[in-house]
Amino acid sequence: MEFKDVYNHERVTRKFSNRKVNEKLLAKIIKKAQLSPSLLNSQPWRIYMVTGDALSNLKEEVMQKIKEGVDPHEDFATILSLNWDAYPSQSLATVGASQPYFYNNKIELFTQSNDTMFNAQDVAFMTIPRTSPAWSVFDLGIFAQSIMLLALDEGLAVMPAHSMVAYPELVRKYAEIPENELVGMAIGLGYKDNAAEVNDPKYYPARLPFEKIYKLVK
Ligand SMILES: Cc1cc2nc3c(=O)[nH]c(=O)nc-3n(C[C@H](O)[C@H](O)[C@H](O)COP(=O)(O)O)c2cc1C
Repeated sequence: MEFKDVYNHERVTRKFSNRKVNEKLLAKIIKKAQLSPSLLNSQPWRIYMVTGDALSNLKEEVMQKIKEGVDPHEDFATILSLNWDAYPSQSLATVGASQPYFYNNKIELFTQSNDTMFNAQDVAFMTIPRTSPAWSVFDLGIFAQSIMLLALDEGLAVMPAHSMVAYPELVRKYAEIPENELVGMAIGLGYKDNAAEVNDPKYYPARLPFEKIYKLVK
């Protein structure tokens, strides 16, 4: 695909079809993403690609926690806490993920897709060592973006979601992640369910006016 087409495709998919991604293709994408830059080439990331029974069992146990009303407690929770500066808070309030669903009175589409892990058949769980500088979170973000662009280029759909790492102890159990690694983020990779309402472009959130985020200083 042309780069501009890949980039213009970059919208998240909140419901995947049941079609699994070829395992070799998944490995090829992650291998290519290893070219991503990182602080001093530290490459702090690890990927645990979870699929098949392991993923089904994880989803089941996550659903159980949700039903029991257990609060999410991501490993990155201290960063994800409510200590947002006013600036991103405004983005959350005005163009945040759930708002188009909210305004269309369809917030349950958003919630249900998150609770079922977007029906993803293949999920890349991303970790960094528990002892990491903030730079490693930055590096992990770059790595995630590489994975997503490479996946889109292969005709896949992507879903980055912290909701999939809401219960890190379960992710650790099913993805076989050691205790000394932080379960940072997860990306669902697969094929879009084109018939699913939750994927309707009318729910795509807008971006802030360019002038609000850009300043040229000479
Ligand atoms: C770090 C990160 C975490 C995210 N977590 C979730 C999530 O838990 N649930 C969800 O539905 N979307 C999640 N998203 C997707 C964003 O809500 C989405 O990218 C944003 O609303 C812009 O929408 P678009 O990518 O379709 O343009 C996450 C995205 C990122 C980068």
